[in-house]
Amino acid sequence: MTGCVSTTAESGDEMDAAKSLSLEREAVSLRVTAEQFKAAMGSFAAGVTIVTSLGTDGVPHGMTATAFTSLSLSPPQCLVCVNRNARAHRAIVERKLFAVNILGEGQRWLSSRFASSVAERFAGVAWSQGGITNCPIFATALAWMECRVSDVHRGGDHDIIIGETLAVHVNEGTPLVYFRGDYSVLSGCAHGSQGVQGSEG
Ligand SMILES: Cc1cc2nc3c(=O)[nH]c(=O)nc-3n(C[C@H](O)[C@H](O)[C@H](O)COP(=O)(O)O)c2cc1C
Repeated sequence: MTGCVSTTAESGDEMDAAKSLSLEREAVSLRVTAEQFKAAMGSFAAGVTIVTSLGTDGVPHGMTATAFTSLSLSPPQCLVCVNRNARAHRAIVERKLFAVNILGEGQRWLSSRFASSVAERFAGVAWSQGGITNCPIFATALAWMECRVSDVHRGGDHDIIIGETLAVHVNEGTPLVYFRGDYSVLSGCAHGSQGVQGSEG
């Protein structure tokens, strides 16, 4: 077969070692700057969430996060990547409970508020406590879910927080999108799903 190269395990290992050595030598010139990294990652259009928790002192915490994704269906798990310096981080890992509010297109002000330096982020915001975790829920979000932390992994300056999803609620509407450093909406997003809700047990 043309273009097909067969190697023994030994020669494959040698090639890997040589490649890794050459990558090490080039490490300095290969380094991606923070700006380059952000520009590339910003091209990955993302939905916007506010991840919340309640401190052990009862104080609500919340922060804007786009590093959120579905992880597993059975059991239903999601994950969010949270900077270890974020105020919500401590509440989440201490109480081992969090909620994720997925924002709709009219909620960019909420996203900005929860990414800002405002001390009282919840002031003037209508929120309630989730029925299972007590974590702050925004009833007008596009969807929200309540989660129990099942695992935490370190990843650079963030923690990858995995949550078992205990309850969900879905409202009609269209999503808020973050793309290349700015908010956007989906053009041609014709439908809002029917409301759905569910919880374990
Ligand atoms: C659109 C957007 C997405 C963000 N996504 C994340 C994220 O996924 N994880 C994270 O740790 N910070 C993320 N941030 C930054 C935090 O929201 C921000 O640093 C926040 O102020 C952290 O809370 P703190 O001030 O209580 O530390 C994002 C900010 C914006 C504007």
